[in-house]
Amino acid sequence: AEDLRNRLPIEAMFTSEHQAVQKIHQHPLPMIHVDAFLYDDDDVDSLCEEGKMSRSYCTECGSYKTASLEFISHSFSLMELKFLYHHVLPDLTGKVVVDVGSRLGAVLFAGYLYSSASQLYGVEMNADFCQLQEIMITKYEFIDRIKVVHADICTQPSLLQKADVVVMNNVFEYFLDRQEQARAWEFIACNVRKRGSLLVTVPSLEESLSKLQVNVQLSQWVEEVQLNYDVYVEKDVDREALEQIHLYKIL
Ligand SMILES: C[S@@+](CC[C@H](N)C(=O)[O-])C[C@H]1O[C@@H](n2cnc3c(N)ncnc32)[C@H](O)[C@@H]1O
Repeated sequence: AEDLRNRLPIEAMFTSEHQAVQKIHQHPLPMIHVDAFLYDDDDVDSLCEEGKMSRSYCTECGSYKTASLEFISHSFSLMELKFLYHHVLPDLTGKVVVDVGSRLGAVLFAGYLYSSASQLYGVEMNADFCQLQEIMITKYEFIDRIKVVHADICTQPSLLQKADVVVMNNVFEYFLDRQEQARAWEFIACNVRKRGSLLVTVPSLEESLSKLQVNVQLSQWVEEVQLNYDVYVEKDVDREALEQIHLYKIL
């Protein structure tokens, strides 16, 4: 994370992400992107103290009236990654993991270090992020178990068909228009079909699909596996973030 921080602008987004940048600007209330893998709460506090970031915005310029800014992250935080590999997923020895929309590679790097998965594939449509992941994979010698594919996931049916675990952290909502999102979900539902394989999503499938006109019969495709979100007792644990993580078994 520290290495990646030094290679990216503070908002950790590339100008090549036109659609995502536009969507954040169109949000009704001011919102900033703070990548949770790169910056934890303490880092954000330090950046605010240095005047490089703000948690609030002035609602009436010149007055003392301020409101809290909405934060959005395009990566899992370290805590979420530990929860994912230590408490959500079973032993992954010999298993194939596919992270749909791998971005900085956080799910892949954590999978390399925290699991025994035999192969971890990232599929990312943005070329700049693929290049960044390749640099990290080479530098930290992850090459034997991590592979990044620069592609739209909708061109990768065989990869999805062979996956034992598919991870989908907020993949489409900020990056595709509604029609493209619906098409992509239908493609996922057609190709993530291996019986007994696992699908991890943020937010829940119900929430993602409810906003779209999509032809997916959830009850015939998956069964939700209940998770225990009480595994961490520390008071600075972001339980709300953990509760966004859902696990499904493919029927
Ligand atoms: C929210 S980020 C997820 C990051 C990462 N998986 C994690 O959890 O830390 C979503 C990523 O999905 C990518 N993406 C969106 N639609 C895609 C598609 N159809 N095919 C491949 N990548 C896609 C975006 O470019 C973005 O980098």
